[in-house]
Amino acid sequence: MDFRCHFFDTLASTNDTARQKCYSHGDVIVARRQTAGRGQRGNSWSSEEGSSLMLSVVLQPSFLEAGRQFSLLQCVALAVADMLALYGLDPRIKWTNDIYIGDRKIVGILMEQSVRGGFMERCVVGIGINVNQRTFEEWVPNPTSMVLETGGEYDLREVLGRLCEALGRRYGQLCSGEFETVAADYHRIMYRLGCESRFILPDGGTVGGIVRGVRPTGELVVEFEDGKVDDFLFGDIRFVI
Ligand code: BTN
Repeated sequence: MDFRCHFFDTLASTNDTARQKCYSHGDVIVARRQTAGRGQRGNSWSSEEGSSLMLSVVLQPSFLEAGRQFSLLQCVALAVADMLALYGLDPRIKWTNDIYIGDRKIVGILMEQSVRGGFMERCVVGIGINVNQRTFEEWVPNPTSMVLETGGEYDLREVLGRLCEALGRRYGQLCSGEFETVAADYHRIMYRLGCESRFILPDGGTVGGIVRGVRPTGELVVEFEDGKVDDFLFGDIRFVI
């Protein structure tokens, strides 16, 4: 698919701009600086201007049943991971769609979508990639960047180009119904898959367990120390890192 990149100096949030009706499938909104960057769970997103990528992609996968929206999220996370691997990195996807290097977060993804008649309508995929950023505000939890991981500085437009190529390939898999391939690729690079981990539950308590995988609808499957296996929705469980 073809992407059309629109470059801005300062925006409140690229996701908000991308939501405007004048943008459609394949438009990519890129800002040098965001004044109100948004993250998941109502958090804010902070990136140093000019040294990291802040962008939002508009997708209109009207062929995709609403029940398959997790496959779209998987494609986006995989596209980012594919792009990072081109730079020699070994990215992992921390459920649902944070991209980690080791125990540090390098990319955040915020997907906002609408559904119509049981099918996906319009989807804005916001992606924040820490590229040449070396220092972070102290409230940002365990961040890293491409420069911190590899020692090299990168041309933001080149990184953007590689990301669009990767996204085009992964989106193509979605268009041709390759859901199992996408799910298997996601599974293969899941953060802490099969490893002993600690988790925080909604009541604030912590518990030990092992991530066994993810359901096609996106629930995380965790096996606990007592052998019990449970599925969790986004927001109901968090890793202790
Ligand atoms: C997260 O990990 O909490 C998601 C962060 C998403 C940040 C990106 S930066 C570009 C786009 N515009 C926003 O306001 N947020 C996303």
